Amino acid sequence: PIDPMSVTFRSATGGMSPSGPVLSRRMSDLEGLFADTAAWQEARDGADPVVYEVASSPVPEAPGELPQSITTIHPGAVGGEFHMTKGHQHPNPQGEIYFGLSGTGGLLLFDGTTPKWIPMSPGVIGYIPPGWAHRSVNTGDEPYRFLAVYPGDAGHDYGWVLEHGMGWRVRRGAGEPQLVPFQSEPV
Ligand code: 6PG
Ligand code: NI
Repeated sequence: PIDPMSVTFRSATGGMSPSGPVLSRRMSDLEGLFADTAAWQEARDGADPVVYEVASSPVPEAPGELPQSITTIHPGAVGGEFHMTKGHQHPNPQGEIYFGLSGTGGLLLFDGTTPKWIPMSPGVIGYIPPGWAHRSVNTGDEPYRFLAVYPGDAGHDYGWVLEHGMGWRVRRGAGEPQLVPFQSEPV
């Protein structure tokens, strides 16, 4: 266990102080996630932009602890599909809490049968029950940022999403984001 502590959210950058590791996911790290493979390759071979960053608090991922992280997803789309996180299951199924800090996005959940969509904006608490894979999506035109709080021994399984998908894809529409069946070909 570590001592009682506070962490300050740096709203200008999405960072934390004090901070643990900061992780950066570029387009090249997101192979196999977007439906439009050609559009993904073009983005990767071009600027290979940072799609999202994750700043973690110093709280360790250990049993009984509650680590926190702040994710910033930069705005954009690949072949019409909004920028998103890789998505994962917690192999040790436990709940997780997300809290919207800035921008507009959503939380896509999938239990292997039924997809669910929770629109996220500043002040919204999104609850992820045990057993639901989850992915975050930026549906706006500014950075979408949220806090996550999760059990320290939950673990992260990325293979599950590559194998099962997430039920839906989230595409740019005329107004609201469009939720289309996962298997559908790029339009
Ligand atoms: C969680 C994490 C959260 C997540 C990031 C990046 O949901 O368990 O606390 O910080 O790891 O949003 O998403 P991916 O882990 O799916 O890349
Ligand atoms: Ni999680």
